[in-house]
Amino acid sequence: MSTVVLDNVTKIYPGGYLAVDRMNLRADEGEFLVLLGPSGCGKSTLLRMIAGLEEITSGDLWLGGQLANHLAPRDRDVAMVFQNGALYPHRTVRGNLSFPLEIAKADPAVVKQRVVELSRALHIDETLDRRPGTLSGGQRQRVAMGRAIVRQPSLFLMDEPLSNLDAGMRTELRMEISSLVRSLGVTTIYVTHDQVEALTLADRIAIMNRGVLQDIGTPAQVYNDPATAFTAAFLNSQQLNLLAATVRTPQNQYIMLDFGPHQITMPWTDPRAYAVSQHTGMQIIVGIRPDSLIPVPEHTEGPTFFGRVRTLEYHGHEWLAYLEAGIPAVTVPEPPDRRQLNGGGGGGRARSMMRRLLNGSAAVEEDPPPVTQPGTHRRADLIVRLGNRPVWRAGEHGLVAVDVSRLMLFTMNGNRIDPPRR
Ligand SMILES: Nc1ncnc2c1ncn2[C@@H]1O[C@H](COP(=O)(O)OP(=O)(O)OP(=O)(O)O)[C@@H](O)[C@H]1O
Ligand SMILES: [Mg+2]
Repeated sequence: MSTVVLDNVTKIYPGGYLAVDRMNLRADEGEFLVLLGPSGCGKSTLLRMIAGLEEITSGDLWLGGQLANHLAPRDRDVAMVFQNGALYPHRTVRGNLSFPLEIAKADPAVVKQRVVELSRALHIDETLDRRPGTLSGGQRQRVAMGRAIVRQPSLFLMDEPLSNLDAGMRTELRMEISSLVRSLGVTTIYVTHDQVEALTLADRIAIMNRGVLQDIGTPAQVYNDPATAFTAAFLNSQQLNLLAATVRTPQNQYIMLDFGPHQITMPWTDPRAYAVSQHTGMQIIVGIRPDSLIPVPEHTEGPTFFGRVRTLEYHGHEWLAYLEAGIPAVTVPEPPDRRQLNGGGGGGRARSMMRRLLNGSAAVEEDPPPVTQPGTHRRADLIVRLGNRPVWRAGEHGLVAVDVSRLMLFTMNGNRIDPPRR
């Protein structure tokens, strides 16, 4: 039993807080699925429902093809690792690692061998006779991981297992988790709010915000072709340029993205051209990564932005430039916050949802979610990545070429403008 399927899973906490909102998700056999999202978006709640530590309000959870909503945690064959992996303080590392096998009444010779093997793989073989109180944070997390792995469950659930460690230890342990879990081939759901962890570890990433699934796909899919502006911004560890543009189609000759002081032409050959043209006269959101803006010499032809370099910022491996180009920027549109039952913007909907749940007609929502208010307009600088040698100085004027094919295009609600389906 190693596939996980969530079918319209919702969690409303007592008191009416809607923490997870109709989540549909599937983790395949042996897959490493990462749940990514900001603090409070419902990641731990989701994981705890899969582990059986939290009741599911509505919807179905299937583990290995078996309906598991009401299965006791011990019958789910799941091992969970928490942020601060609690260990048995009076047992040695060896005792902690062997405990799950002892409970399962495994052959002592097998237990001994398995503990030694595992401790070597996790680089804690020299600590086997020490107690947890004498270990570093990184070593404790390795023991917690080992204790979860030792009895080879069908499913690993990891809730931010690295977030208490320093950056160096995080990177080291990240690689080890990845190779260990993959060598075991056990389906894993891993929660984090760290985009780098998600991109480096995952087979697929599911991005959540405010209890709602935003996007799911391989790291390259969600990074390069994000379904929402929220996903685009969240996955960008550098800041993302989110700009407002009006779509114009002069005499139907070509498509123009009008940024106010600057215009960019989109050729009809762009696969998104037709979909974008449907927004003629309207504003859309254009997402541009700092590395999609390339500094070029003055008078360069083609799509460009022009501005005054307000400031340069040194980041060690690169420089970022902030270019005053007079383009209206927008804040990241978020899904409507429907989480708080008592008061708050979406209270009415959460309340009516609760009523339906109580009446036994849970999952059907008759009206679409309310339209998000467009992001607030403000003039912001264009962020440009300069590599490790700044080509400009503060106060100078700079020209950047824009790669139109790499522009990310969203409606003002933050949903990707997709090419029409064939
Ligand atoms: N037992 C509870 N009763 C009421 N509300 C709860 C309960 N547990 C969690 N919540 C609320 O549900 C929301 C989601 O919480 P959850 O712990 O799942 O978030 P998270 O994504 O794991 O956040 P973090 O990254 O900070 O760990 C939060 O607003 C939290 O306050
Ligand atoms: Mg959490």
